[in-house]
Amino acid sequence: MFDLDDLKKNTARLDVSGIDFSTFKDQPLSPGALRCLRYMHDVEYHTVCYMRDLLVTKAHQDHEIASFLAFWCFEEYWHGEAIGQILEAHEESAHGARVQPLRARIRRREALKPWLHSVGSIVAGREWMAVHMTWGAVNEWTTQAGYARLAATERHPVLTDLLKRIMRQEGRHIDFYATHARAGLEASGRARRLVRFALARAWSPVGAGVMPEAELTHLTRFLFGGAVGLAAAQRIDRQVDRLPGLQGLELLERSILARAA
Ligand SMILES: [Fe+2]
Ligand SMILES: [Fe+2]
Repeated sequence: MFDLDDLKKNTARLDVSGIDFSTFKDQPLSPGALRCLRYMHDVEYHTVCYMRDLLVTKAHQDHEIASFLAFWCFEEYWHGEAIGQILEAHEESAHGARVQPLRARIRRREALKPWLHSVGSIVAGREWMAVHMTWGAVNEWTTQAGYARLAATERHPVLTDLLKRIMRQEGRHIDFYATHARAGLEASGRARRLVRFALARAWSPVGAGVMPEAELTHLTRFLFGGAVGLAAAQRIDRQVDRLPGLQGLELLERSILARAA
């Protein structure tokens, strides 16, 4: 259950004390894991753009939501920084050297997004927030599961230590989005219909539309391919099922099957 006072006490720059990034020089990650981390790095840093799209909606009028967004963006920034340090330890570019060209590549599409979300908010009213909150819950569940799968697949002690620290913060993001998604969906049948329609028609995993489809396909197969990965994804689908009016969407399973080898 989300509590703003708890968040104010606990929000922090990711603690990387004791994480020896130089270990990766002697014990490098597999190419498949590194490719996933490039995706995760770029998407964590992209949070500021997701926040931009939320703030043009009625979100900025709600003190609790607007406050969360500030803390959320701060924490995700440091996730990007930490993953960037892993990339640098593998002598790969990271931080601004990766982010700047990415933002330049997608600048036209990104320029449209504040307009789309602004119009969506005007047309759909408060129910538009329920779409954002539910979408956010699915994204945070997926992110946390993705990190857990990466740690389990790669079995690198330093990576596992870092990912566990990131996952603890992702857990608080889940609390926020899931609490607000449930409240918004319980509040009105119109919200339930709109959210169900939006997820069924338009949902795609976090980072889709920002990262190339080939990278999303790799990440999907690497983390959620095979029986164990599929089971992890199905657990997220069951969590979505438990939200009011959203039973049977099978978002994750359909996304994985669509990208299966
Ligand atoms: Fe994150
Ligand atoms: Fe998060």
